[in-house]
Amino acid sequence: MTNFVRLSKDNDVAIITIDNPPVNALSPGIPDAISAAIDEINSDAAIKAAVIIGAGRTFVAGADIKEFIKMTSSGKRLATLLPLLLRIENSAKPVVMAIHGQAFGGGLELAMAGHYRVASPTAQVGQPEVKLGIIPGAGGTQRLPRLVGVAKAVEMCAEGKPIPAREAFDLGLIDRLIEGDLLAGALSFAREVAAKPAPKTRERKEKLGAAAENEAIFAAARATAAKKQRGLKAPLAAIDGVEAATRLPFDEGCQVEAKLFTECLFSDQSKALIHVFFGEREVAKIPDVPKDTPILPVNRVAVVGSGTMGGGIAMVFANAGIPVLLKDVEEATLDQGMGKIRKNYASSVQRGRFTQAFVDERLQLIEPVLSYDKFSSVDMVVEAVFEGMALKKAVFAELDRTCRKGAILASNTSTLNIDEIAAATSRAEAVIGTHFFSPANVMRLLEIVREQKTSKEVIATCMQLSKKLGKVGVLVGNCRGFVGNRMFGPYRREAQFLVEEGADIEAVDRALVDFGNAMGPLATGDLAGLDVGWRIRKEYRHLEKAGVRQPFAEDRFCEMGRYGQKTGRGWYHYDENRRASADPEVTALVRKWSAEAGIGQRQISAEEIVDRCVYALVNEGARILEEGYALRAVDIDIIYINGYGFPAHRGGPMWYADAVGLQKVYQRVCEFQRQHGELWAPAPLLKRLAETGKTFAEFDKEQVVAA
Ligand code: 3HC
Ligand code: NAI
Repeated sequence: MTNFVRLSKDNDVAIITIDNPPVNALSPGIPDAISAAIDEINSDAAIKAAVIIGAGRTFVAGADIKEFIKMTSSGKRLATLLPLLLRIENSAKPVVMAIHGQAFGGGLELAMAGHYRVASPTAQVGQPEVKLGIIPGAGGTQRLPRLVGVAKAVEMCAEGKPIPAREAFDLGLIDRLIEGDLLAGALSFAREVAAKPAPKTRERKEKLGAAAENEAIFAAARATAAKKQRGLKAPLAAIDGVEAATRLPFDEGCQVEAKLFTECLFSDQSKALIHVFFGEREVAKIPDVPKDTPILPVNRVAVVGSGTMGGGIAMVFANAGIPVLLKDVEEATLDQGMGKIRKNYASSVQRGRFTQAFVDERLQLIEPVLSYDKFSSVDMVVEAVFEGMALKKAVFAELDRTCRKGAILASNTSTLNIDEIAAATSRAEAVIGTHFFSPANVMRLLEIVREQKTSKEVIATCMQLSKKLGKVGVLVGNCRGFVGNRMFGPYRREAQFLVEEGADIEAVDRALVDFGNAMGPLATGDLAGLDVGWRIRKEYRHLEKAGVRQPFAEDRFCEMGRYGQKTGRGWYHYDENRRASADPEVTALVRKWSAEAGIGQRQISAEEIVDRCVYALVNEGARILEEGYALRAVDIDIIYINGYGFPAHRGGPMWYADAVGLQKVYQRVCEFQRQHGELWAPAPLLKRLAETGKTFAEFDKEQVVAA
């Protein structure tokens, strides 16, 4: 055998152990080694059955995704797992798959080729391939419906959500749950079944359903995919794959699956989603904060300010089981904050996301307070009071007085200078920005802002904490707007310019929604509140260069008291349920203001709308990257996908620009500069990469080498 696959014996049962840390991915060499082990078992008369088990923390997390990257960049086909799976299924001696941790993707496909599956109750199984823009490629769409039925197989393959072992057991995918020692349980199960004829999943038909009911299942699944996974090709391909299982013999179904798999794998969507998969893991790596940096305990926290963000942040901690003190200045405001938290939880129960018991426990973890008295007991504070430097400094000075030495003092500020906030304390090394996104309990992004003196321990702790909180933490530098909002400025500026130049409001939003964004830029402004940006712009107006064009519409709406959804009017008109409709008066106003400003009106294509908005992101992103406020281009991509609704299947703005080609992007930016002036001056990095034929991805690799 190899180091990665070991064959051992427990009397009359063979044990094949897959040991390819960290997640036992089926990297090259492993399928061959398993295959050789199966042959050896079948030629050994003393062996009656076999168990396949994973070493370490998991069974098998799937095919090796890195191999897919090699394959698509070289154009070469990877050896398929199908022959190995047939060999296992054809084994004369029953093969029992012993699952702990995860059996995902190729891991579940491997497990289904076994004659039986036993699992630890904490295990999970799933076909998450769609999240990588592909579909199961080793018989998953063919074997899964035979074990769990068509409806569940369609759901698992098209949505990619794993299921717990207990549910898999109820469905018939797992034959026995094993409490305690998995290997011992699997061995004893193997002895029980050793003499019985080994059932082959591929020969089973009883759960494949009838044509009429299957048709309804597929139609409903396609409708759901079109709505919930808008623009994605893989979920539809996964449904086609399962449909083939219901219509064709197993071998032919596998051929259909293989064709669909290859089409998906070589698609731009899959390349982008695989980039996102590795990107989400890459952002956790901070070049100057080594892996073994000590982590500080965060067992008890406090949140200052129980408003929109403070309340949501308190919920995030409570949901992770961490007790929180929630402080505000007045009883009435605090009651209001707690009331909103209760309402949010109640609606989660109503929607089936949480049980009442879970919510009751979480609420117990949030203690509303009006003073700093108990702050000496907490390990970390997140400040979320009104946005204003003087107030933030006063709060941090108070935290410095009341919190124990070593406690982390974090600010949720979205625009203020963290260095300046830190200066209000005697322990700048403990100060950091933790920029949650609204609604904090829903959005996955956490921008972690390091100031000049933030210690490595504090950074490492916040990065690790983000994972515990179910967030993707991305470390950024301390510049105005940090990374996400700094880029969002030019993006939304262009959306407004486009309307001022003659584009329809709905056309601007639609073009970006069609591109894949969760929402259009103008509707997003209405949702967040147009007054937020207005207040910030007023504060920084002195920094604006005279003679440089600025959008005017939103400032004027705000002067009219139209702040968006909260006042019922903004770019759109909103009814009492916040349902949007076009507001002809707004269009008329913008047209009038444009005429007064002498801005020529013209027809604007959807293509130009997307280019103007998305390249504004890219150009600013390139500046941020060069200035070092983002560690890597991929960090920007992860920020935009998780905090700003940028479509994951486009890989993030920087990956998208690479995919379009940086020369092309650069030329378009230069064209916009000629048309619209210095706001479109190309970022030096974009110019350099375009001129040297490089990509942002290559820039990232060079940074790693340099570090
Ligand atoms: N291939 C290659 N590397 C993988 C991998 C895979 N399938 N799964 C995880 N890894 C790597 C990660 O990149 C990470 O590497 P790093 O330490 O260098 O950053 C390391 O393993 C640990 O992964 P996580 O940080 O994600 O560890 P967690 O414990 O948080 O999560 C997991 C473990 C739930 C298994 C998660 O890694 C996961 O979901 N993996 C992907 C599962 C998947 O998508 N499988 C399907 C693959 S495609 C397939 O099988 C096609 C088939 O149908 C032919
Ligand atoms: P908010 O106005 O909803 O809430 C602020 C809360 O702080 C109020 O309840 C107020 O009573 C309380 N407060 C004021 N002074 C206090 C003090 N000295 N001690 C305790 N509580 C005090 O504001 P919101 O929107 O929650 O914003 C809070 C912070 O989060 C700001 O810095 C903001 O920039 C930032 N932020 C806001 C986002 C948003 O979408 N609303 C997104 C990301 C960051």
